[in-house]
Amino acid sequence: MSDTNYKRTTVTAALPYANGPVHIGHLAGCYLPADIFTRYLRLNKKEVLFICGSDEHGVPITIKAKKEGITPQQVVDKYHKMMGDSFNEFGISFDIYSRTSSKTHHETASDFFKVLYDKGVFTEEVTKQYFDESAHQFLADRYIMGTCPVCSNENAYGDQCERCGSTLNATDLINPHSTLSGATPVLRDTKNWFLPLDKLSPKILNYIESHKDWKSNVYGQCKSWLVSGDGLQPRAMTRDLDWGVPVPVKGAEGKVLYVWFDAPIGYISATKEYAKQINQEESWKDWWQKDDTRLIHFIGKDNIVFHCIIFPAMLMEHGDFVLPDNVPANEFLNLEGEKISTSRNWAVWLHEYLHDFKDMQDVLRYTLCSNMPETKDNDFTWKDFQAKNNNELVAILGNFINRTLVLTHKYYAGKVPAINALQDIDKHCLNEMIEAPKRISESIEKFRFREALAEFINLARTGNKYLADTEPWKLYGKDNERVSTIMHVSLQLTACLAVLSEPFLPFSSTKIYNMLNLQKTDWTQLNNHLLDVDHLLGEASLLYSKIEDEMIQQQIEKLHQSKQNNKAQDDAEAPVNVAPQKAETSFDDFTKMDIRTGTIIEAERVPKTDKLLKLKINTGIDERTIVSGIAQYYAPEDIIGQKICMLVNLAPRKIKGIESQGMILMAENSKGELCFMTPTKDFNNGSLVK
Ligand code: MF3
Ligand code: ZN
Repeated sequence: MSDTNYKRTTVTAALPYANGPVHIGHLAGCYLPADIFTRYLRLNKKEVLFICGSDEHGVPITIKAKKEGITPQQVVDKYHKMMGDSFNEFGISFDIYSRTSSKTHHETASDFFKVLYDKGVFTEEVTKQYFDESAHQFLADRYIMGTCPVCSNENAYGDQCERCGSTLNATDLINPHSTLSGATPVLRDTKNWFLPLDKLSPKILNYIESHKDWKSNVYGQCKSWLVSGDGLQPRAMTRDLDWGVPVPVKGAEGKVLYVWFDAPIGYISATKEYAKQINQEESWKDWWQKDDTRLIHFIGKDNIVFHCIIFPAMLMEHGDFVLPDNVPANEFLNLEGEKISTSRNWAVWLHEYLHDFKDMQDVLRYTLCSNMPETKDNDFTWKDFQAKNNNELVAILGNFINRTLVLTHKYYAGKVPAINALQDIDKHCLNEMIEAPKRISESIEKFRFREALAEFINLARTGNKYLADTEPWKLYGKDNERVSTIMHVSLQLTACLAVLSEPFLPFSSTKIYNMLNLQKTDWTQLNNHLLDVDHLLGEASLLYSKIEDEMIQQQIEKLHQSKQNNKAQDDAEAPVNVAPQKAETSFDDFTKMDIRTGTIIEAERVPKTDKLLKLKINTGIDERTIVSGIAQYYAPEDIIGQKICMLVNLAPRKIKGIESQGMILMAENSKGELCFMTPTKDFNNGSLVK
């Protein structure tokens, strides 16, 4: 769909996983740009629908449920509500915020799969998949981790490497291990249904190449997947899991749709729900099936392959749908120089922000928009947040509007004064009210939101400078005709700012309208005469207030504090990687081992080694030498007198030339750290352990 030939626009923002609250990275990544874009289109009287909802399937949800000891349904219920509330509080103006556990969605996703199945699109394949024998389940996607075959990242997931962005199959991982038990999984046969992306590749390439207008980061990534290495590989669209949309075909009992198959269909089901809500049930088709519909997906960069390749392939094969027209993906937002991390609690959560900065949603929207990671990863810092507020919102936008309103109330009892003979400086100002909106439009239409916001604040800057240069307060009583013109021009500019701020700063926009006592107007009506002479204004109020250093310091401390708390909690919860149980042994075999309590009476490092200590132990029977690999965890001088347990009848072994006569028992945690097994009472050396 070329930019001029469409009649309506369907805007989607990635459905966030319902496994945690919303943070600033989410907002800057896709919800804020999508919201600005949609608000802008609405203001321009375009037909637009803004779709979102919670992604409630997939392994991230079941892992969270396991961690919190509740059911997956309880997890999604909790976070669906929380996320919906946050978006709402920050003015993200979805027409609907739906969810993929809904009945409509299950039906829609299931039907979609059936259509492809009946058309013979899928290939049915029995393949070997990883299975965790201690957890008794197949390990799909995030249930398995290992080393990325592309970039050697040791923490790659079974479906994707977050470091290099490669899409992976679990069997591609090097050194795979189960995230459930830590065990090395075994391969087992299982049947799944694959989307043959390899065969579809020429069609997909064609599609991508017809979109050279896409952002270069998006276009470039797609091209490289298609043409480099082995190209696209078939991808399983079903999973051996018990949480998700059941696969609607015979022989697929106990299997569900791959979350990345069902989630994007969530955009369609959400549209259906919206259509039902407005009592026009069939109208969902307009947004998805009419050729004059333009479909735009706002996402973060980790979602590019799914929205530019897999979902379009599904839509193409289905046949009834329009394809994404544009996928303006953002890069990532970092926080104070570090990657935002939910698990490490290195994040600014929206609900906490609102608690600390009441009614200051627009300040965050402004800062995030001006730092939006449009072309490269970007950083949010609290200092910058403070500076943007104090130096731009307070000092420029707020100051200009406040002075304009206060002076008008003072000189003209709150009525718009007449405009008289114009000087160049007035003309320049009036002209900018026509030109700046054009530049802002152009930037927004190209998804350049930072640039658009900079143009917007520049217009406010023009106003601020206009007042500073003309100094009406010095002219009042001397040249009242001139003052009247200056105030008139300033008020018209304020009215323009009310309109133009709406996509970026919706809360401020409403306040400005109220101060002007002006009805909301749209972008198409924008001109430099929105207010009539003698129009009575509303009351002036402050738009923004200064943020003191103290508040910023508190936020920085809170961030570091919560990270530390979280680390302590992580350490306490560490037995994620518990080694699987060993093979059965007999009681007889066990009793052959002579384990006793003892005391370390001497300790020294074994020269030229990092790990070994040479210990002398009082075993109750005798005193003997043992070489033990604990030097990384215990200093020799700290362990003299330490009570221990040891195996005394182990055959002697030579280690680094020293005869070791037995073995000290140690516990080893999942990180490989060691500690002594000490009797909890003061038992004499040589007591039997059994
Ligand atoms: N839940 C995914 C994520 O947070 C995004 C899903 S987008 C959709 O990365 F297309 F699947 F809906
Ligand atoms: Zn990688």
